Amino acid sequence: MSLDIVILAAGQGTRMRSALPKVLHPVADKPMLGHVIDTARRLQPSSIQVVIGHGADKVRERLAADDLNFVIQAEQLGTGHAVAQALPQLGADTVLVLYGDVPLIETATLERLLALVSDNQLGLLTVELADPTGYGRIVRDTDGVVQAIVEHKDASEAQRQIREGNTGILAVPGKRLADWLGRLSNSNAQGEYYLTDVIAMAVADGLTVATERAADEMEVLGANDRIQLAQLECHYQHRIARRLMAQGVTLRDPHRFDVRGEVNVGRDVTIDINVILEGKVVIEDDVQIGPNCVIKDSVLRKGAIVKANSHLDGAEMGEGADCGPFARLRPGTKLGAKAHVGNFVELKNAVLGEGAKAGHLSYLGDAEIGARTNIGAGTITCNYDGANKFRTVMGEDVFIGSNSALVAPVTLGDRATTGAGSVVTSDVPADTLAVGRAKQRNIEGWKRPTKK
Ligand code: UD1
Ligand code: CA
Repeated sequence: MSLDIVILAAGQGTRMRSALPKVLHPVADKPMLGHVIDTARRLQPSSIQVVIGHGADKVRERLAADDLNFVIQAEQLGTGHAVAQALPQLGADTVLVLYGDVPLIETATLERLLALVSDNQLGLLTVELADPTGYGRIVRDTDGVVQAIVEHKDASEAQRQIREGNTGILAVPGKRLADWLGRLSNSNAQGEYYLTDVIAMAVADGLTVATERAADEMEVLGANDRIQLAQLECHYQHRIARRLMAQGVTLRDPHRFDVRGEVNVGRDVTIDINVILEGKVVIEDDVQIGPNCVIKDSVLRKGAIVKANSHLDGAEMGEGADCGPFARLRPGTKLGAKAHVGNFVELKNAVLGEGAKAGHLSYLGDAEIGARTNIGAGTITCNYDGANKFRTVMGEDVFIGSNSALVAPVTLGDRATTGAGSVVTSDVPADTLAVGRAKQRNIEGWKRPTKK
């Protein structure tokens, strides 16, 4: 059975009070419409049609992809009119309608809905609501058979008592759609071409309307303002947290944990509070992450430990490596197995060999550091001359004395040593001590100044 998906995303979203089109407002750093598109992709449709209008250029620019077709709805004349704009592009057996501002709809729910569709049956996703104000109501006959959807503004007092609401999401046999949409009228309370009127037409044509219930209200909630957007964000985060816990992750508090991207986790991972994972993060078995860490586009190998308040971006930590508290690993950082990075150490484009250590207060940029090398407190690689960047290369078992300044380009051989406070401007051969500092003088009998 072939499938076309139409995503409605032309509305303005006035209540967001924003220059950004509503569907580009993010949930977990991804535009709401991006979530809907990703969910649509998982259904492997023959086409995805995105109906855009308000802020069309911005939407297209942000989300353009080869497998998407954008359809312009110049004037927003209603949901039925919106779907009609995509009609020339449709040809599949089934057409599924989704909404760019309803981002949490789940693939499994849609699969259940699609299973209902046949030549003589369509599938409608409904939701039981405590307060259905504003929603279209599902009108059933005394046998419980769906007859129509009546919009809130067109509904009688009796119909407004119905708590089964229309989510807007429906799946219909493609062959029928053009006929139904062609027959829509806008003589209703809002003067719009309602997609929902298709239901009564289908019933009149002898089709059955089968319904599926959304698991919970949040799954089908649209965000019209920033309060609802925050609710969706919160719900989305809980959903991810539950998924990770099911996979064997201990979250010290699932309410204080955020994922803004994709995370791949192993088992027996422990994550403390206020951790934010961004972009693509891979966390292998037995990793421990302390509180208040932000980890973006990084890989944490088995048993790695990230201590409190560390910030990782584009970094890889080897097996059993540890960093922090207050470590900053910037793009291109690679820590070998069991490597150790302590507090207030910043690494950028730096590779630390197996068991290498930088325990305190350092900046290591554009550096290659051999196995077991020890970087003393306060060491700085002077990698930038104001115009160009240069590399610092250290062999294995090197010992860098505290507060050394390594002026790149510079190479230190295996087992080289630098004296504390040295400014190292030329290469140091293997097994050699470099001392590059003023010799100490002691001035005997020197008198301290006294207050006048
Ligand atoms: C719609 C449904 C209602 C349902 C509710 C769920 C209709 C007539 N009513 O009402 O039964 O309970 O959703 O939230 O379908 N859009 C366009 N172009 C248009 C009009 C709308 O792209 O011309 C998009 C909007 O951007 C929005 C969505 O379609 O994302 C829904 O439109 P909206 O006007 O908000 O419909 P509701 O009145 O909420
Ligand atoms: Ca709405």
